[in-house]
Amino acid sequence: MRYQEFGTTGMQFSELSLGTWGIGGAGWGDVDEATRLDAIVAAIECGINTIDTAPAYNAGVAECYVGRAVEALGCRDKVHIITKCGNTFVDGAYVRDGRRDAIKRQCQQSLENLRTDYIDLYLVHWPDPKVPLAETITTLQSLKEEGIVRHVGVSNFTQAQMEEASQLCQLEAYQGQFSMVHPQEQALMQWCQSQRMGVMTYGSMGAGILTGAQRTLQHYADNDNRSRFYKFFTEPMFSKVMDLLGKMDVIAAQRQVPLSQIALNWVAQKDFVSNTIVGAQHRHKIQENAQAFTWTLTPEELAILDAAVAVANSL
Ligand SMILES: NC(=O)c1ccc[n+]([C@@H]2O[C@H](COP(=O)([O-])OP(=O)(O)OC[C@H]3O[C@@H](n4cnc5c(N)ncnc54)[C@H](OP(=O)(O)O)[C@@H]3O)[C@@H](O)[C@H]2O)c1
Repeated sequence: MRYQEFGTTGMQFSELSLGTWGIGGAGWGDVDEATRLDAIVAAIECGINTIDTAPAYNAGVAECYVGRAVEALGCRDKVHIITKCGNTFVDGAYVRDGRRDAIKRQCQQSLENLRTDYIDLYLVHWPDPKVPLAETITTLQSLKEEGIVRHVGVSNFTQAQMEEASQLCQLEAYQGQFSMVHPQEQALMQWCQSQRMGVMTYGSMGAGILTGAQRTLQHYADNDNRSRFYKFFTEPMFSKVMDLLGKMDVIAAQRQVPLSQIALNWVAQKDFVSNTIVGAQHRHKIQENAQAFTWTLTPEELAILDAAVAVANSL
């Protein structure tokens, strides 16, 4: 595993984080509870010391699993827990709520779910257009002053929203979608880097499509995040991604590595990326992903992949 300091926080993050949206148990297929809990244990055993979760991941279930696994391993002081606020999951729907009282309640519930008395990094999950940004951000600032959360940041914000928020609170992290099939946030992330924020990427495996496991069009249920949130498994993107996989196949064969590791190193080697989050519910997938952080792509390989990514993401 590779480690680096996360922004200005002083925390040493593994470059790979475990994402727990799937582990929550809603919208990512049917995986049994023991396997999902074991995934968290596997991540920690692989040297992953950052776990990304949220109350919105099946209404707190993902947080509860993280709390149970970390408590059972007795490793709370060695693991950085990142959770979020301002977005809830109610009756199968995601509902934003950035009001002060709501965030304070969410934070208290997250502490209980996670079986801890502090959160290492607390992010606003999505901006809530119904609530003044200042109300949401000053609430985070007060939670930080109380010592309940150690560091704060945002996710899915625009640059203008981050500039406004920064007037009220030092933003230490940005989390956004970035992968070979969704490189559109590069400029925003470079701006975050220029502000000395730590940058975490989500969807870094393209919701699984970059593993090459699905080479024919799939049908996912309407409430599955591979049809609801990510758009890679439908045309026209699907065919473009298949062409991209063809370029990755050549490098994978030369190096004898799985495509998943190429996808992860392409993200992690961008100098503006501090941390790459991957969601996985299975021990063997997490072990495979962790192995990506034992080698790097060469400049020549990166140039080939950058060109293929540009084609795949062109209109
Ligand atoms: N801030 C936000 O708004 C936001 C939005 C989305 C996600 N996130 C965070 O970022 C994390 C990562 O994003 P994501 O989970 O949406 O998408 P992702 O990491 O791009 O893809 C997850 C999918 O990839 C599969 N996978 C992972 N490694 C694999 C491997 N080596 N071989 C085969 N399949 C593999 C997983 O399989 P299995 O699940 O079957 O094991 C799952 O289906 C989330 O879990 C969440 O913590 C944050």
